Amino acid sequence: MTEKAQVKGSYWLQTAPGGAPRPALAEDLDVDVAVIGAGVAGLSTAWELTRAGRSVAVLEAGRVAAGVTGHTSAKLTALHSLVYDKLRRTRGPGGARLYARSQSEAIEHAAGIVEELGIDCDWETRDAYTYVCDAGRVDELRAEAAAAREAGLPATFETETGLPFPVAGAVKVTGQVQFHPRKYLLALAEDLEAHGGRIFEGTTVHGLDEGGPCRVSTESGATVTARDVVVATHYPIFDRALLFARLSPRRELVVAGSIEADRDVDGMYITPDDNTRSVRTAPLDEAGRRLLIVTGEHFTPGTGDTRERFDRLSAWAGEHFPGVDLTYAWATQDIDPTDTVPLVGPLHPGAKHTYVATGFGGWGLSGGMMAGRLLTAQITGEECPWSGLYDPRRLRTAVREAPSFFKTQAEVARHFVGDRLRPAPPVDALPPGEGALVRVGGDRLAVYRDEAGALHAVSSRCTHLGCLVSFNAAERAWECPCHGSRFDTDGKVIQGPATKPLERRDI
Ligand SMILES: Cc1cc2nc3c(=O)[nH]c(=O)nc-3n(C[C@H](O)[C@H](O)[C@H](O)COP(=O)(O)OP(=O)(O)OC[C@H]3O[C@@H](n4cnc5c(N)ncnc54)[C@H](O)[C@@H]3O)c2cc1C
Ligand code: FES
Repeated sequence: MTEKAQVKGSYWLQTAPGGAPRPALAEDLDVDVAVIGAGVAGLSTAWELTRAGRSVAVLEAGRVAAGVTGHTSAKLTALHSLVYDKLRRTRGPGGARLYARSQSEAIEHAAGIVEELGIDCDWETRDAYTYVCDAGRVDELRAEAAAAREAGLPATFETETGLPFPVAGAVKVTGQVQFHPRKYLLALAEDLEAHGGRIFEGTTVHGLDEGGPCRVSTESGATVTARDVVVATHYPIFDRALLFARLSPRRELVVAGSIEADRDVDGMYITPDDNTRSVRTAPLDEAGRRLLIVTGEHFTPGTGDTRERFDRLSAWAGEHFPGVDLTYAWATQDIDPTDTVPLVGPLHPGAKHTYVATGFGGWGLSGGMMAGRLLTAQITGEECPWSGLYDPRRLRTAVREAPSFFKTQAEVARHFVGDRLRPAPPVDALPPGEGALVRVGGDRLAVYRDEAGALHAVSSRCTHLGCLVSFNAAERAWECPCHGSRFDTDGKVIQGPATKPLERRDI
């Protein structure tokens, strides 16, 4: 077994790399709707809008479905860990029912698309489980099973699962799905283009003018004029409603390796125990072997050593699935909203033609598909029963769930001030392959020493709102703990909300 997993990249990207990149936006364009971001949320929205007869341009900084969506664990389920008991308390039984219905309908709708387009995306129906091994949490699971059932899901409380170790209790929801997210979305992208939609890769959006019509400006200077604009950049790059105060980034690790067919776990599993563990499998080869995918060890980006976390997750996989040969390891991050429910709808209280989809809390596959349907209804002027539930302009629940709101703000303030007080090591002490904030003259720089010994120095101030970045040695990236922006060792943006690189510095 490969006990020490290294970051070798996402299985989804390696097994569905896609063809040559689509060209970047090179000249000005006029469309009905501009969608910024081609993850599951952006592409689902663009696909629905194209089918509704709108002319659509998708502007993607990288490649289609290669952001968080290309690094997920790809369970398509309405069982979102432990959400229903909380929802029935905070939104009432009606809110919990709307949540369950909106997520379930999104999955059914995707099943229809897979059938209609004949998409080969390893679509497999499985039961979903949230389990605990700690007997002290069984009552919590019983309450969740009851709340999920009351919300309309086929949920039961169980003590037996397909896992190769005993559990104290589990919520089971039947008839959920696991799939290959990139195969699905690449097919959606092709179909969108076949119906007249346009997709531009390598096109970073910098600016948004919310006039009538809106104007979206890109790094190259080319602009898109559109009646409506959808910001589906994961963390919103435009934030006129201070949404960032209600969103916290959470990075998580994934390791994967082959197991024999007869050791399949026959279900999709997640537990809040052990700093979260999630388990599913995917078809691997013609001999019937399965790819075991284990996720966990969540943390705030830019805090602590990720190598130790990878080691812990790999050790857990080896202990619970002896003999598993871990050949893939990757990491990605999602955003937790402070009041549990994703933010999908108008971008800010005064917005007439700008929309956002964010804060999926680790469940953005069904959530992104749901967002596609919801935003299309709003843009085409149709009613959608769950518009109110997901409305980003809500403040009542954000305030009601104030502890989580204030905790997010306190964390940001702690990083903004505290990180500036941390002692900085001298640059000579930096070994190859490592990065650190070092003092050079009166300045604090983010410096990385590559394997050949050369130093790469960039500004340590995140270009989003100025927090100090921190080095993630396992992934060789600078990460911002405040809202999760990530940069490569030369300062280029890997993940927003930052849209501008860290400035290069001479050292
Ligand atoms: C480890 C892990 C496992 C997960 N597993 C599951 C799961 O099993 N089931 C589930 O439902 N959810 C899961 N999730 C959550 C889910 O993967 C995400 O919520 C979802 O993929 C987010 O999709 P998105 O479209 O919002 O973001 P993304 O897929 O990141 O798409 C946003 C796109 O916007 C682009 N972009 C950003 N800035 C700009 C810019 N300035 N200009 C142009 N383009 C830009 C990016 O390049 C990116 O392609 C998991 C999350 C994690 C972290
Ligand atoms: S991501 Fe907001 S300050 Fe860095």
